[in-house]
Amino acid sequence: MQPSRVLLSAMLSLAFALPVAAEEKNPYVPETDPKVLARLEQWQDWKFGFLMHWGPYSQWGIVESWSLCSEDVGWCQRPKGVAYVDYVKQYEQLPTTFNPVKFDPDQWARAAKQAGMKYVVFTTKHHDGFSMFDTQQTDYRITAPNVPFHSHPRANITREIFNAFRAQAFGVGAYFSKPDWHHDDYWAPEWATPDRNTNYDTRKHPDRWKKFVDFTHAQINELTSQYGRLDILWLDGGWVDSTPNPNAKPISGEVPWPQDIDMPGLVKLARRNQPGLIVVNRAVGGPYENYRTPEQHIPETELPYPWETCMTMGDSWSYVPNDKYKPSRELVHKLVDVVAKGGNFLLNVGPAPDGTLPPTALERMRDIGGWMQVNSEAIYASRAIAPYRDGKLRFTTLRDGTTYAIYLADEKEQQPPAQIVLKGLAPADGAELRLLGADAPLAWKRAGAGVVIEIPAAVGKQVAGAYAWAIRIAAIRK
Ligand code: GLC
Repeated sequence: MQPSRVLLSAMLSLAFALPVAAEEKNPYVPETDPKVLARLEQWQDWKFGFLMHWGPYSQWGIVESWSLCSEDVGWCQRPKGVAYVDYVKQYEQLPTTFNPVKFDPDQWARAAKQAGMKYVVFTTKHHDGFSMFDTQQTDYRITAPNVPFHSHPRANITREIFNAFRAQAFGVGAYFSKPDWHHDDYWAPEWATPDRNTNYDTRKHPDRWKKFVDFTHAQINELTSQYGRLDILWLDGGWVDSTPNPNAKPISGEVPWPQDIDMPGLVKLARRNQPGLIVVNRAVGGPYENYRTPEQHIPETELPYPWETCMTMGDSWSYVPNDKYKPSRELVHKLVDVVAKGGNFLLNVGPAPDGTLPPTALERMRDIGGWMQVNSEAIYASRAIAPYRDGKLRFTTLRDGTTYAIYLADEKEQQPPAQIVLKGLAPADGAELRLLGADAPLAWKRAGAGVVIEIPAAVGKQVAGAYAWAIRIAAIRK
């Protein structure tokens, strides 16, 4: 049942292309609602978030939802020799065995907090349509009587997660898939389902599509009115609501008909319940994509709008036994690199089917947390500052002008080098420089076009072994 590495890398490279293409077709449209702007500003201070893909599919350790999709591409694969219709039947039985009795969202929230994360985004519903919340719009949900977990006191998983993370002062985001492959008015049962889109022409069957739009709005109404304060509505499935391609070929993943989910109406409803809600209509562009979400990649340089890289800690979004997790050093470097370019980093872990976070993921989170304990002042509430990066250095700056140069250390570098040369920005005359985690100010001098910072071995020793070293520059030259 496991997707191969080849399949996964194919998945990653496709995903990579989407936001870039979206930017060319549909440029970023700045928000005008002052409440949303204020929330976006606050969200940009958080910098580091936790994304989780979790659902009955986690039991099979496969790619979330996509094996239901009949497109002939790597990440939609099913086991050989199994007929598609039989596969779908089995997949749709997955909820009847989903019983994550070790589910402990308080522990998840503590682990994420300790890692230095400030907000959470959870898959309330993925493309397969299974609602991980107590929706009244469908029986395909975690609290349905045929799901063993329904009788558990914490069965309304989304609510439990949101409450647990809010208790740790986290911002809260709902991942929600606009496409719903379980809904009869999205994939109508009387027709075959050739690809990710509606399996009927919405222009020929407007009533049917209208029913789907109403259903979606009703679910969004539930999520935004019954689950406490929500900061972000993270809408996935960019093909719903995107401009149809009149020349779309069959089974290409594109269709010539619109899938207009009435975003103006949907957002109005959501913000009536949640004033100031950040809406992320991913990869669609237009007024309801308050920030952009490069997927599995970090842009080369800073971007002229709010953005967030979402990335898997392992190779997959959802739980895969023995997933290969990125080393802690790499994760810290990615966080720093993203932040230096003005972005947020949304790091994904797939919880196991029993309700636990994989031990290796927890270990990575502890490592990142250890680094953050010393260095987070260079991260939170910072903004990008030119030249953003120079070799192994990354730069961040705070509202009060305090600026940081963060040196990304190789595995072989136990201690900071004796000298660090700064180019592109320089301390103000007499400014104090300090290495975070060490107790002495650093000597520095101007030299040619740059600045040379001295790090005595005894000072460097105090921060030995860290993944990155941050130098606080009290003020920079304007
Ligand atoms: C990719 C995956 C999708 C996942 C998303 C998260 O688009 O195909 O399943 O939810 O990434 O960003």
